[in-house]
Amino acid sequence: MSVPSHGQCKWNARYAAADAGAGEAAWVLREYAHLLPTPTQGQGQALDLACGLGANALYLAGRGLQVSAWDGSAQAIARLQTEAQARGLTLTAAVRDVVEQPPEPASLDVIVVAHFLERRLFPALIAALRPGGLLFYQTFTTQRVEGQSTPSNPDFLLAPNELLELCQPLRILAYREDGLAGNLTQGMRARAACVGMQR
Ligand SMILES: C[S@@+](CC[C@H](N)C(=O)[O-])C[C@H]1O[C@@H](n2cnc3c(N)ncnc32)[C@H](O)[C@@H]1O
Repeated sequence: MSVPSHGQCKWNARYAAADAGAGEAAWVLREYAHLLPTPTQGQGQALDLACGLGANALYLAGRGLQVSAWDGSAQAIARLQTEAQARGLTLTAAVRDVVEQPPEPASLDVIVVAHFLERRLFPALIAALRPGGLLFYQTFTTQRVEGQSTPSNPDFLLAPNELLELCQPLRILAYREDGLAGNLTQGMRARAACVGMQR
């Protein structure tokens, strides 16, 4: 049995302490849900990578996709399995280090990544999509509005337009990054979101 890293001990402790449920699926997934494969297209296989409590996995399973959900935290995976069962949803949740064991090439129709950033993974994520497959990605940016919480480690923050560049080998279907433009009390601040399609 592998020993959890310091980072995973931190996440296990956080998930053990949290009372709240999985919460809402990421904005990018809800906003662009109409791009997901339909029943007539066979719906397909989806992965919620670094899923945490699995809000995105639950959302995709509820729409009929065949869903896998991977996270390094055993605590998160156990809670997700319980929640899926309570909702009567079928998904496969597994404890997995996604950097050491990224998805196999051409194995997925949909990948969702929210609030997790490991730049070295992008080539593997892109290669894991089948032709026409979609990557939904949303995470934190360096540009933030006072009072909004983002990770303190700058390695986990996207520079302006960085997500667009990371997803560039894909055909970009949607990109949003409000940055610090205009009325800062409105819009989606401190986050960037992208939907890219495998060519
Ligand atoms: C900020 S949480 C985001 C969880 C979820 N995607 C969400 O949006 O609510 C980051 C997650 O990444 C997971 N994580 C960090 N490094 C990982 C790794 N190398 N392999 C798998 N999971 C990892 C943590 O356990 C944690 O659940």
